[in-house]
Amino acid sequence: MQRVRASTRWPRRRTWLLAAAGAAAAVLRPAGAAGPGVRRLRLSHVVTEDTPKGHMARALQHHLQARSGGRMVLEVYPDSQLYGDEDELEALRLGAVDLLAPSLSKFAAGGFPAFELFDLPLLFANLPQVRRITQGSIGTELLQALSQRDMVGLGYLDNGFKHLSGPRALRQPADLAGLRLRIQPSAVLSAQMRAWGATPVALPFADTRRALERGVVQGAENTLSNFATQGLASVQPDLTLTAHGYLGYALVAGQRLWARLTPQEQAWLREAASAALAEGNARAAALEQAALAHLQAQPGLRIHTPQSADRAALRTAAEPAYTAFGRMAGGTALARVQRALQG
Ligand code: LMR
Repeated sequence: MQRVRASTRWPRRRTWLLAAAGAAAAVLRPAGAAGPGVRRLRLSHVVTEDTPKGHMARALQHHLQARSGGRMVLEVYPDSQLYGDEDELEALRLGAVDLLAPSLSKFAAGGFPAFELFDLPLLFANLPQVRRITQGSIGTELLQALSQRDMVGLGYLDNGFKHLSGPRALRQPADLAGLRLRIQPSAVLSAQMRAWGATPVALPFADTRRALERGVVQGAENTLSNFATQGLASVQPDLTLTAHGYLGYALVAGQRLWARLTPQEQAWLREAASAALAEGNARAAALEQAALAHLQAQPGLRIHTPQSADRAALRTAAEPAYTAFGRMAGGTALARVQRALQG
């Protein structure tokens, strides 16, 4: 099951923050050798180290080692080196990896359709609204439900809001007509793209840049930090700051790991996870700003800012995505989310 994908990867322009992160090594091992009796954990993820998830993973490595007094150490495998987003949940279930932080969309594809609420287009106006869900009863219930598939939910992490990129400015549904756009595997995202006149193409994150380069897809939706760290400015001439959807993650441990840990080790992992997630969440907005500044300096990239009327047109046209969510998650799910956002 384990595989290393590095040989199939393309060069990326991702040096802009790596130096600051001091993280050029392929596998991030904690300082100091792990001796006998030391619990060694592995976390795999699909983005680069200079993203909110990359920073959270480094922070988790640090906090776990510090809290356990070196009795627990974490190895971090970024950038889909170990598993891609198409096979990481299965790897976790089999115990081939111990910790993941998949995007919330990927839990929906993994059998939890209620997680698709986070994909609903133009649902959240800002991150405090997202918190009303993640820090409230809905967010708690979603994390607890993960135990049905052998996962222990440890908390939520932001990346930020997604924007549309393509061969032209994409402000309104009419601008998207006829384009093939990469999405994460998600019925809501699929319905969203179809409602906007585009053809959704679900692809693993690690394949997105190459698919854009080769014209398999002509556009995508990404947060600024993912767009920047994947070097998408070199394959996408236009980026429109639609902020039309949220991208966040849940940090999860595999049940196979959890069952092997002592209560003390479980407590150290929970405490380290809370501290790392808080740091990652605090860092996300700064990374987004850094990514925007980096992208504004890219000579080949045109950045467009839509008007509020454009976003309103996107929202009106996106109604089928809300219908799709209601169909999958049950009739009352959407009303409950909307009540939580207002309350
Ligand atoms: C995507 O597939 O676009 C994202 O979920 C990747 C990530 O983990 O940020």
